[in-house]
Amino acid sequence: MPRIIIKNGCIIDPDRKTATVGDLVLEDGYVREVVDLASAPTSYGDEAEFIDATGCFVTPGFIDIHTHLREPGFEGKETIATGMDAAVRGGYTTICPMPNTNPTLDSASQIRQQYDIAARHGVIHVLPIGAVTLGREGKVLAPLAELSDAGAHGFSDDGAPIWDAHIMRQALLYSKMTGRPVMNHCEDLSIVRGAVMNAGPVATRLGLTGWPASGEEVMIARDIALAAETGGRLHICHLSTAGGVELIRRAKAMGIRVTAEVTPHHLVMTDRWVLGNMEPWDGKGPYDPAQLRPYDPRTRVSPPLRSAEDVQALIAGLRDGTIDAIATDHAPHTLVDKECEFDHAAPGFTGLELALPMLLTLVNSMQIDVVELVARMTHGPAAIIDVLPISLGPGDPATLTIYDPNAVWTVTPESLASKGKNTPLMGQEMRGQVMLTMSEGQIVFQRAGFGTSLQQPQPSIGHLPGVFDEDEA
Ligand code: DOR
Ligand code: ZN
Repeated sequence: MPRIIIKNGCIIDPDRKTATVGDLVLEDGYVREVVDLASAPTSYGDEAEFIDATGCFVTPGFIDIHTHLREPGFEGKETIATGMDAAVRGGYTTICPMPNTNPTLDSASQIRQQYDIAARHGVIHVLPIGAVTLGREGKVLAPLAELSDAGAHGFSDDGAPIWDAHIMRQALLYSKMTGRPVMNHCEDLSIVRGAVMNAGPVATRLGLTGWPASGEEVMIARDIALAAETGGRLHICHLSTAGGVELIRRAKAMGIRVTAEVTPHHLVMTDRWVLGNMEPWDGKGPYDPAQLRPYDPRTRVSPPLRSAEDVQALIAGLRDGTIDAIATDHAPHTLVDKECEFDHAAPGFTGLELALPMLLTLVNSMQIDVVELVARMTHGPAAIIDVLPISLGPGDPATLTIYDPNAVWTVTPESLASKGKNTPLMGQEMRGQVMLTMSEGQIVFQRAGFGTSLQQPQPSIGHLPGVFDEDEA
């Protein structure tokens, strides 16, 4: 393999918590050197190939611990192959498919099949999550040790909660034995049965059945008690309420083994989107409110979009480390699943290709630092599913993402590789786009027009929002 020099990028190393504008030198699929722009040589010799990353960020490949790939059983919504294509276009080099397929991923052979299909399609890591109960019915524990031996990186009945406390307790005991987390979708069905959106003034105004925060928090509290008692590894999926953030903050302070994830949509959208108001951006950008109407089924998701106070608490939780990871909960559905009455629409948003531009709105509005953000998309999730933390220092694998924070593009069905076109952001202009994704030295995605060359680009600092002020850059 030739030497590849990624030139003039802002290289983010979430492990060392650094952002260095300069050159990343790759050799034989590994990072050889990180060269500060000021000390960059005028020539890297004849053998080198260049990628001009001026004005771009260069980060480790993103890791998504919560993805729905729908194969086997629902290939009309997504396949492992189309999901992997969407992943690399979103900058992801590791994804964890959830087991709510048909058949359910509740046996060793099903887990092995996920690896086989993924290996046939590409080189990014597809690390499946096994079901906690047979058929995700919540009644009989699945063979968790076998699932783990076959390569399951966690256990979950996602889409549904592990409602039986005794089964949850047993699963946590197995998590100690296997080292894999139990990832619960916390939803107390006795509270939220029939609920389609967040309980509150918007639900009342629209006449839709509300899902109160307690419907999520009651189960988080129960699981924390079980984790404290058993010492098992608890992971809370798609945390969405301020009360939930506080429960996890306190549990962590007590030394209980609990981790949590939040989705990009719960960080940037509120329940007012169901009204057709794109709060907090409504009227002041970046989104165009004319694209959305009240009762738009594309705003239905589980857990539901919450209040502005919840969103602020989630951002605070992400910043102070209460929330370890950002996970997409990429939930592709067909048009037929979504184009119906709000009450009947399948919950979920297509997520892999929209996560980064959605999250950059938080960086651009100075709500989170770009290094912190990247850490929650790489380092944080890696620790939960026990894969090596990916950083971009000498000796690390060249598994990385190059994104341009200033690239402007419009979300259209054709712009997404995922079969899932279901997003309330359809028709919106987004800022920020992945230009190139590399997995262990191999380019797995390269956007048209973003090229490699044999000519060395001139040193330049580019324009990097979130790192330098406009006037500095
Ligand atoms: O909105 C959601 N969609 N939440 C889930 O928990 C499951 C997911 C799906 O599988 O469609
Ligand atoms: Zn879920």
